[in-house]
Amino acid sequence: MTDSLTIRDNRTGAEYEVAITDGAIKAADLGKIKTSDDDPGLCTYDPGFTNTASCKSAITYIDGDKGILEYRGYPIEQLAEKSTFLEVAYLVVYGELPTKEQYESWVHEITYHTFVHENVKGLMQGFRYDAHPMGMLMASVGALSTFYPDARNIADADNRHMQIVRMIAKMPTLGAWSFRHAQGKPYVYPDNELSYTENFLAMLFKMSELKFSADPRLVRALDVLLILHADHEQNCSTNAVRSVGSSQVDPYSAVAAGVGALYGPLHGGANEAVLRMLKRIGSVENIPAFIEGVKAGNERLMGFGHRVYKNFDPRAKIIKKACDDVFEVTGVNPLLQVAQELERIALEDEYFVKRKLYPNVDFYSGLIYEALQFPPEMFTVLFAIGRTPGWLAQWQELIMDKEQKIARPKQIYTGDRTLTFVPREERWADA
Ligand SMILES: CC(C)(COP(=O)(O)OP(=O)(O)OC[C@H]1O[C@@H](n2cnc3c(N)ncnc32)[C@H](O)[C@@H]1OP(=O)(O)O)[C@@H](O)C(=O)NCCC(=O)NCCS
Repeated sequence: MTDSLTIRDNRTGAEYEVAITDGAIKAADLGKIKTSDDDPGLCTYDPGFTNTASCKSAITYIDGDKGILEYRGYPIEQLAEKSTFLEVAYLVVYGELPTKEQYESWVHEITYHTFVHENVKGLMQGFRYDAHPMGMLMASVGALSTFYPDARNIADADNRHMQIVRMIAKMPTLGAWSFRHAQGKPYVYPDNELSYTENFLAMLFKMSELKFSADPRLVRALDVLLILHADHEQNCSTNAVRSVGSSQVDPYSAVAAGVGALYGPLHGGANEAVLRMLKRIGSVENIPAFIEGVKAGNERLMGFGHRVYKNFDPRAKIIKKACDDVFEVTGVNPLLQVAQELERIALEDEYFVKRKLYPNVDFYSGLIYEALQFPPEMFTVLFAIGRTPGWLAQWQELIMDKEQKIARPKQIYTGDRTLTFVPREERWADA
């Protein structure tokens, strides 16, 4: 068997042989297929990149049909059970589990970079009282590029490490402050004696107590949620980070683009949409009518379906278990019953079965976040904090990849050509 593809162009009768490597052909090879010398050559049309690989990556492996997710070769189930978010962050960014010294130094560095410049605080205070925290996060992450102009030096490995540490460290601070802002409460400075996740909770919820402490089961549940979000290969926001990063801009600007992409309801905004949907359905007896509406195309069942998973999203299974741990501390959220019944009905319904629509990571995560007292607008912020190591790992991989170029897709032009411009006074002469 030869690893190549023979293409016969029926327009010209010409045959071409194109190499197949790693199950892919190079799109540029199709450019050789022409009908004449001034033909720009064949290209593929792929809105939403449904069947186009934009990079080679060794970070995350997903088998959507089997419901498998691995970071750097390790199954997500094992990482969620036995690791910590910061250890997973190191793994995702640097490709290997840290030694004891590497882990301690990584945790220390991240802990000591959680503070932000006071002017960042001033910037955040300038937002309207009802600003969406994702908008505040996007703006403040982008603003960090102005506080660290050295971040432009992306070719230097030590410099990249510094920005990676800074960004993983500061995201919870920015996220927590955007939450406090909406509540009109004073911003809480980081506490270097707390773990990454407990410190985040402290910056969110600390009031007048001298020392904040949270139930360890809640801290662990949140840490697991962050692990589950750490990377997910070439999703919309990662593609945004890579696309913007391909211009060789600093990583803060690239990650700000990722935050923007994550803000959308079809991506990170889905868990917020799930909770609003569950609240609107309200109780189990309203589910059949709601499902009928979905099947009639009136709306989507939020938290169901995935571009890649055509089976259970493995993260959804882990989250379902985390729900039990959290509800043990906080008491059961009555919407859990609605979610479980919705899942049961949808998994048996021909419409969802035929389209391979299963619960995704967002279906249950909103319920946990609500039990942890987060308002829905904050859900996507939590996703962004978890995804930051993944964005940075992907950005670093892009920078190191000699095959990468500035992202510049082709288009198929469908507009007019060769029109002649008529000045306004002539166009409007008869009006
Ligand atoms: C995630 C998502 C954007 C993936 O979209 P996609 O891969 O482009 O899939 P499509 O939009 O082409 O959907 C394929 C079919 O399933 C249907 N479908 C997909 N998700 C659906 C949902 N959540 N509810 C109802 N129908 C859905 C589509 O209407 C389409 O049906 P059709 O073939 O009759 O036209 C999509 O499943 C969705 O919108 N889900 C809800 C939002 C969500 O939970 N997002 C979080 C992702 S982690």
